[in-house]
Amino acid sequence: MQSIRVNLAERSYDVEIGRGNLDHLGQFLAERAETSHVVLITDENVHKLHATRAAESIGEREIDVDVIVVPPGEESKSPEVALSLWQGLLDLGADRRSVVATVGGGVVGDLAGFIAATFARGLRLLQIPTSLLAQVDSSVGGKTGINLPEAKNIVGAFHQPAGVLIDVATLSTLPEREYRSGLAEVVKYGAALDADFFAYLEQNTSAILDREEDVLLEIVARCCRLKAEIVERDERDQSGLRAALNFGHTFGHAYELISPLPQAGEGSGVRAASNSNSPLPQAGEGSGVRADGAIGMLLHGEAVSIGMVLAARMAERLNRVDDSFTRRLRALLDAFGLPTEPPEVDSQRVLDIIKRDKKASRGRLQFVLPNQLGRAELVDGVAPAVIQAVLESK
Ligand code: GLY
Repeated sequence: MQSIRVNLAERSYDVEIGRGNLDHLGQFLAERAETSHVVLITDENVHKLHATRAAESIGEREIDVDVIVVPPGEESKSPEVALSLWQGLLDLGADRRSVVATVGGGVVGDLAGFIAATFARGLRLLQIPTSLLAQVDSSVGGKTGINLPEAKNIVGAFHQPAGVLIDVATLSTLPEREYRSGLAEVVKYGAALDADFFAYLEQNTSAILDREEDVLLEIVARCCRLKAEIVERDERDQSGLRAALNFGHTFGHAYELISPLPQAGEGSGVRAASNSNSPLPQAGEGSGVRADGAIGMLLHGEAVSIGMVLAARMAERLNRVDDSFTRRLRALLDAFGLPTEPPEVDSQRVLDIIKRDKKASRGRLQFVLPNQLGRAELVDGVAPAVIQAVLESK
């Protein structure tokens, strides 16, 4: 078991990383947040796999646990689902003494974190990430939020958790495509922040793809340590330091928005169930909104993978790196089976989305660009002609 401290004065907390430690969640909670009521928010995929065990572990502490299940997928990060959750918490009698625990991937963590940040002006939050993306990135650092149709993560709050519990054993149930998508964020840490870590990833691709638990513990801990160091120095993403974590994300978000959306399924409302003594609810049938394997739709990490390659090409054009950087980055992403070429879409559409993105401040276009392996920084005022040229280059 490893524990990484995120030092943020009175908002400091531990990220505990282990295997099989989900069964100790009750103890982890009791050591960090005295309460008699937990609202556990999860999604239909994770509910039976992991959230039931998490709720049972909390219930063993004689704490009332209410479970709310949302549909899986990015569409749940919406004002409509947020409204149902606020209403759900009200109906369950949650108040400022209650704790929100979120068990799931990045979507559930961002959404439930936002609910915790806003309900009753702020509830304590525990993050229990079960996807690779959430374990290495989104569960640490306090960013929470939802999307509007035109912009990702545009409504949100900084709300640090009281603790993060990571059980790498939960990664064994992740669909292959989703696991590989999470690896894009892992590569991001190496490429943008830590050249030695990048080399470690290059040397261990097979073990990583085989999800060997020792290697998983190593990469999750390494990413969380890098993230903690950055968050401690730039908690609210103001100095440009934390922006390095967005390497590949400006192009990536644009392709994510542009790639075809899945059909909305039925039953996309949230479901609430109550109390540690009663059987936990079963996931509803046919209620998934997003089929993660849908052809033509990019997962977040896939879009980031493409975005990192495009950002590398941009850095080459601006003479910040030579082509060996891009070749090495591409080779590692290829080894992890991630896409490295953008889909065929009109480059003007991509540029329009980038201009509208929240990183475009007062008309100045900002990109996170490398200047060597393991070092990237926010670059202001990139000319639209350069972006266009990158989008049209092969
Ligand atoms: N995922 C980027 C950040 O936490 O700042």
